[in-house]
Amino acid sequence: MKYSLEYFQESVDYIRKIVPWTPEVAIVLGSCLGPFADAIEDSVVIDYADIPNFLVSTVQGHAGKLIFGTVAGRRVVCMSGRFHSYEGYDFEQLVIPVRVFKLLGVKVVILTNAAGAVNTSYRPGDVMLVSDHIKLNGASPMRGPNVEEFGPRFFDVSRMYTPELRQLARECGEGTGLTLHEGVYMFFPGPQYETPAEIRAARILGADAVGMSTVTEALTAAHCGLPLLCLSVMTNMAAGVLDQPLTNEEVRDTAQSIAGPFSDYVKKIIARLGEVAL
Ligand code: HPA
Repeated sequence: MKYSLEYFQESVDYIRKIVPWTPEVAIVLGSCLGPFADAIEDSVVIDYADIPNFLVSTVQGHAGKLIFGTVAGRRVVCMSGRFHSYEGYDFEQLVIPVRVFKLLGVKVVILTNAAGAVNTSYRPGDVMLVSDHIKLNGASPMRGPNVEEFGPRFFDVSRMYTPELRQLARECGEGTGLTLHEGVYMFFPGPQYETPAEIRAARILGADAVGMSTVTEALTAAHCGLPLLCLSVMTNMAAGVLDQPLTNEEVRDTAQSIAGPFSDYVKKIIARLGEVAL
């Protein structure tokens, strides 16, 4: 039963009783990017704790609710608060939200996160469209018996950050005042920030940014064939880039200062999703 189709279906059956319509887009809001939730019209909120077989957020500053509603004329489900392996979850458990979205009928996933800039030409407040990732730590979320209904045992991830969605996101960036980059996100398990030596290693390996989330959700979306866009907000220069310690306050303050324009940017992308043939 564990992680079988029926396991995820139990969460879906509960949600459907409250929200009978089908969301088209799932959006995962990263650290402190919560204000986007205020942009959701006609919202219906479900606490994670009430959903059978779902997980519960334990991080301060991360709410724990699914918000259903309308953004830019599209029906969306928004995850306000996400799950990380550093909270104690197994990588295998971290498939749950995206698989539930898939069964709900979602057609596109948008992931957002806060990240540290490894690329020294980036600045705090810049946004990076994730073109690829590096995950050398931890297991695959697809470890264990494969659930064939979602996808095959072995699957391609060479186009998992959907090129057409990145193209749209580049176009939507024009005129927003945001500085956009496109680059590689490297996963570190946290909860400690990285060491300066780890950041130097990450740079040599080809990373442009580092963070503690996202990759499990991205891999789960790739496995079940969901088109994916991932946007990283640079909340700080990564460890050792500047001669100062890294603090959660710095991360939070940058995230809060960019939340308004970033929210508008994500709304603009959602408004134009219809232009992308997926
Ligand atoms: N490292 C890891 N995760 C992060 C960082 C960082 O520098 N900034 C925000 N999330």
